[in-house]
Amino acid sequence: MKYTEMSKAQLEAEQKELLAQYEKIKAQHLKLDMSRGKPGSEQLDLSQGMLTVLKTKEDLISESGIDCRNYGVLDGLPEMKRLIAELVQAKEEQVFIGGNSSLNLMYTIIANAWIYGICGEKPWSQQGEIQFLCPVPGYDRHFKITESLGIRMIPIPLRPDGPDMDIVESYVNQDPSIKGIWCVPQYSNPAGYSYSDQVVRRMAALTPAAPDFRIFWDNAYVIHHLDFEDHDAILNIIDECEKAGHPDLVYEFVSTSKMVFPGNGVSALITSTTNMADIKRIMDTETIGFDKINQLQHVRFFHDKAGIVSHMKQHAAIIRPRFETIWQHFSVLGELGIASWTTPKGGYFLSLYTLPGCAKRTAALCKEVGVILTPAGASYPYGKDPEDHHIRIAPTYPSTEELKTACQVLVICARLAALEALLR
Ligand SMILES: Cc1ncc(COP(=O)(O)O)c(C=O)c1O
Repeated sequence: MKYTEMSKAQLEAEQKELLAQYEKIKAQHLKLDMSRGKPGSEQLDLSQGMLTVLKTKEDLISESGIDCRNYGVLDGLPEMKRLIAELVQAKEEQVFIGGNSSLNLMYTIIANAWIYGICGEKPWSQQGEIQFLCPVPGYDRHFKITESLGIRMIPIPLRPDGPDMDIVESYVNQDPSIKGIWCVPQYSNPAGYSYSDQVVRRMAALTPAAPDFRIFWDNAYVIHHLDFEDHDAILNIIDECEKAGHPDLVYEFVSTSKMVFPGNGVSALITSTTNMADIKRIMDTETIGFDKINQLQHVRFFHDKAGIVSHMKQHAAIIRPRFETIWQHFSVLGELGIASWTTPKGGYFLSLYTLPGCAKRTAALCKEVGVILTPAGASYPYGKDPEDHHIRIAPTYPSTEELKTACQVLVICARLAALEALLR
């Protein structure tokens, strides 16, 4: 029976029973962390072999004879560019290989736009108030970058097929203060949505009022399917922008963080020749070059896209049951009519939607008994979820047993929060 169909007396009886269960959980002094989308240690074990592919000094010589122990090669080893180009179906000359973090690359590009400007335009810092569109729910660390520079963030509803493009177009095509949009086009963080072909084409067809507007296309989950027989596939934004006659509209980012060791991956930027020249010019001041030894380790470990695919299938085999565990536990919330959730085919997260006004309370109840969730609201600019109904769920890091316990606790807390709201 749904909570909304219960009488006050029934709701109170339910609350009493759940509070008794809650007190028992409290006595267990749990310490579980479901707050961040980190791979579990079983996943990390899959990449252990990457650390032993380079043994001798001869191993450290690249295909074209570069001694990777030394300085040089700003934009990455040709074989690493080839691997990324194959992964995202781009041309090698469109690929810039960065350091260990794509988030860092995004920050650098935005900071450079702020300081120097994009492709000869005035620096963003000298253009008065500038704004970014932020599909929500979205990635909290994207929002942190724009917030840190005082860039005003405008939330845009993210639907199962991508951002609401009517709203995006009306902002971007009319307002020159709109300089960017954050996009995680495949298995978005956190809802796990992938953009439809129509949305990708409408993105590529944007005609921005600002010449220095760019789409920040963070393709972080490019190959992170839960099932390689049944997965999402998005259109290639670089191709679509070219076809639409707007090759410079987009910066695409990928990284191997969640293929190998986060913090020890390789990041890449894929973009047009014009943007590439602009970025290289500035990067040339910032660094002599990134970590080529790491790039070489990647290439020798994966060899090619097929190598990445077979590796990611092993990740999927570990992660998939964890998502399934969560969905099983959540089913009771659906039966009670007090929550809905997303069921992505890949990525690292899913979204749980509680009754309006119940997300913060649910997370607080969890915290009180030792289960840490991503702070409710974190997936919205400035940490403000206007409906206070969204919780980001990150299934990968806890062990299977820990995950089951955490889900049991979360379900009880979501029920208690809903009961409090309904009885109020
Ligand atoms: C959408 C998205 N982009 C970027 C990152 C971080 O990537 P990197 O480790 O390459 O900085 C994450 C990590 O959770 C993410 O979810």
